[in-house]
Amino acid sequence: MSLLEENQSTDLENMVGLSRRGFISAGALCGAAMFLGGNLLSRSVLAASVSAGTSKLLGFDSIPAATRDTISLPPGYKSSVLISWGQPLQKDGPAFDPSGNGTAEQQEVQFGDNNDGMSLFEFPAEQDRALMAINNEYTNYRYLYPHGGMPQSADEVRKALACEGVSVIEVRRQNGQWHFVQGSRYNRRIHGNAPIDLSGPAAGHTLVKTSADPQGKHVLGTFQNCANGKTPWGTYLTCEENFTDCFGSSNAEQKFDAAQKRYGAVAASKEINWHQHDERFDLAKHPNELNRHGWVVEIDPFDPQSTPVKRTALGRFKHENAALAETHDGHAVVYMGDDERGEFIYKFVSRDKINHKDPKANRDLLDHGTLYVARFDAGDGNADHPKGQGEWIELTHGKNGIDASSGFADQAQVLIHARLAASVVKATRMDRPEWIVVSPKDGQVYCTLTNNAKRGEDGQPVGGPNPREKNLYGQILRWRTERDDHGAKTFSWDLFVVAGNPGVHAGTPKGGSSNITPQNMFNSPDGLGFDNAGRLWILTDGDSSNAGDFAGMGNNQMLCADPLTGEIRRFMVGPVGCEVTGISFSPDQKTLFVGIQHPGENGGSTFPEHLPDGKPRSSVMAISREDGGIVGA
Ligand code: FEO
Ligand code: CA
Ligand code: CA
Repeated sequence: MSLLEENQSTDLENMVGLSRRGFISAGALCGAAMFLGGNLLSRSVLAASVSAGTSKLLGFDSIPAATRDTISLPPGYKSSVLISWGQPLQKDGPAFDPSGNGTAEQQEVQFGDNNDGMSLFEFPAEQDRALMAINNEYTNYRYLYPHGGMPQSADEVRKALACEGVSVIEVRRQNGQWHFVQGSRYNRRIHGNAPIDLSGPAAGHTLVKTSADPQGKHVLGTFQNCANGKTPWGTYLTCEENFTDCFGSSNAEQKFDAAQKRYGAVAASKEINWHQHDERFDLAKHPNELNRHGWVVEIDPFDPQSTPVKRTALGRFKHENAALAETHDGHAVVYMGDDERGEFIYKFVSRDKINHKDPKANRDLLDHGTLYVARFDAGDGNADHPKGQGEWIELTHGKNGIDASSGFADQAQVLIHARLAASVVKATRMDRPEWIVVSPKDGQVYCTLTNNAKRGEDGQPVGGPNPREKNLYGQILRWRTERDDHGAKTFSWDLFVVAGNPGVHAGTPKGGSSNITPQNMFNSPDGLGFDNAGRLWILTDGDSSNAGDFAGMGNNQMLCADPLTGEIRRFMVGPVGCEVTGISFSPDQKTLFVGIQHPGENGGSTFPEHLPDGKPRSSVMAISREDGGIVGA
């Protein structure tokens, strides 16, 4: 979702011509290694003293920031549109209508709006064929209806719900180019009115029962689907993020309880006003409907008839993505961030082991297990490259003070109100946790903390992994688990990068850490992805005003980092007004799929094609090399 932050400060502080030092110096490295000690983090510190531009992992030159209404790439790279908002999934399907007069029924069989996280699923033994599951996070009301405003009828709410959820599509490669296969039997929409099952400990609980579903086991729809995860058993996880925005109340004076308030319930519904036209979203009439959203949903992309399942054991909050890992003894781990200022980072560990021989045996693996929340220490306070220790605190009823005395009757309540349970155990309030990824090379875990203008107030102390007051730029946190076991209860952490603007602010913290330069600077890291070679791709959802604190940063973009040296280069810049979000790779790593979300959010864009009325459309792009080589190499 776009950066809708207040405090877009435009005070131009001292314009300083900074000569940024290259990267971490040999001395700093020495200190880091000594502080962390032993073998535990020997690979987690920046490995060697390097100067700018020496990474052997990054095979392209950093490109300049840009404000153009197009995709900018390094020389030798090209991009094409894989699929755009409104494209019909079936051969006889309704065409996209740029006037906004297309109906809800038509949108329900077209590619959804505002594509976000996505995963690619290979067909065994078919290297030129795959499925892609792609989230559709929300919709641009500016472009959705002929009147360009908020929904004004039940039909218009239904159309908005049809824009959201997930699109599953088949893709094939011909002559080196991947394209969308219209009419494939796998093509499918799972939208905001689709039937979804609720499973795990909170299914059937009083708090999830409604008049439409007295059993509390069958929900209508998944919406506000931000980012994603892919399980080792071949299923897709879609994460429900800003669900509370969809709810409001017909009673302007409605009093909300502590749990409703903590999840952001307000009578006014952030202006989209679905509750005025569809009473399912009216908290005065159906307060429990709110509890049926904010979950991770599991989908089998290879079975178009399957019913998606909301996995309540993973907890309810504003889910960003879901990063899969495995413990040394074979249990599944899911790392998850809650994207709100001052909220937390979680992990789930399955009770049962993954069955790698029989994928279907893992069908209910995510229904049983233990949820933990992260607590970080204050770290060493190093301004450029802070590091410290952390631990996972169990969120289980009857443990760690989570019981009737703190307001929890049972484990279902702990999961439905996971934020409240995490506060009981004094988890660390973070700078808006966005994506989490696990390195395929060394198992270290990276998490974007996108920004937090409120850091330093509101009970959110400055320090540890959140070291900057009024944090406009964000940082990337990294942790390494004890014994490199994702099942371990403790870990060591450091900040891989602290974003900043060295063109505007001198030194750390606002100029960023020493691996930020005027040539690679960016703000609000959000999406993350590792390729097979261990390159870390960073996608931004930041302020693209190119002015004030953000002068010189241009449009939102995608960068690529060498995790060992800390070097970061800018690889792609997106069109005007977009967010760059969602990343996946072809199995041979020769195509990188990346999402361009809400181009022209505030006007000024016609991306990706010049339609008669100039309406921009969110799209998935396929990026490849002219010479057919591996992207990034
Ligand atoms: Fe949907 Fe937190 O981004
Ligand atoms: Ca995001
Ligand atoms: Ca964001």
